[in-house]
Amino acid sequence: MHLSISFYAALLGLSASVAAGSAPLTSGQPVPQFDLPYAFQGAEYVASPSDVDALRNTLALYPLAIDGKNFPALGLVFATNAVANYTAPLNVLTPLSTIESALEASLAPVTTQHSFGTQAIDILSPNTAVSVTYFTATHFGIGQFAGQIVTAYGQYQDVWDKQEDKSWRISYRNLVYMGPFIGNLSIFT
Ligand SMILES: *[C@@H]1O[C@H](CO)[C@@H](O)[C@H](O)[C@H]1NC(C)=O
Ligand SMILES: *[C@@H]1O[C@H](CO)[C@@H](O)[C@H](O)[C@H]1NC(C)=O
Repeated sequence: MHLSISFYAALLGLSASVAAGSAPLTSGQPVPQFDLPYAFQGAEYVASPSDVDALRNTLALYPLAIDGKNFPALGLVFATNAVANYTAPLNVLTPLSTIESALEASLAPVTTQHSFGTQAIDILSPNTAVSVTYFTATHFGIGQFAGQIVTAYGQYQDVWDKQEDKSWRISYRNLVYMGPFIGNLSIFT
């Protein structure tokens, strides 16, 4: 419980002692990789398995939306007022409409496949959750760059809030790259 709260607090830029009951902030540093193994020991709150499934299925819509270039469908994943720190060059994107337009513009020159790997989910309370999900994102060049790729390795550290309609949405995301971009970066030009 405490470690999970620490994780939640770190994502929100809060100290653990003030995490519970504090209003979410819109800035937060990612949890360092070294600390992640201790961040998912299971909250004291016993979540319904259906909540975990619902959250995981919601997150699965992210690659479906991005890879389909259906950027308005990101509204199925992010809260309207979501904040997403995609680091340089995209930096902090908010609200949802900006997340949609910035990702659409940055991915316009390529097609993509986003694959999820290692994942940990912790439902902290009836209305809050955190998750970490590794991803491999392959970007495929088009036109003169057909057959060339850029692969990105990273993880999403997500804070979730259950909405009034009982659906889960990401309210805060830190994207953390875990290695250099591999490939021919000219495909983005
Ligand atoms: C966004 O993430 C980067 C990399 O983790 C960090 O250096 C930067 O401070 C973050 N920005 C904000 C506003 O939290
Ligand atoms: C990137 O692709 C272009 C077009 O095929 C090619 O001319 C260029 O040499 C490639 N650059 C690298 C670093 O592979």
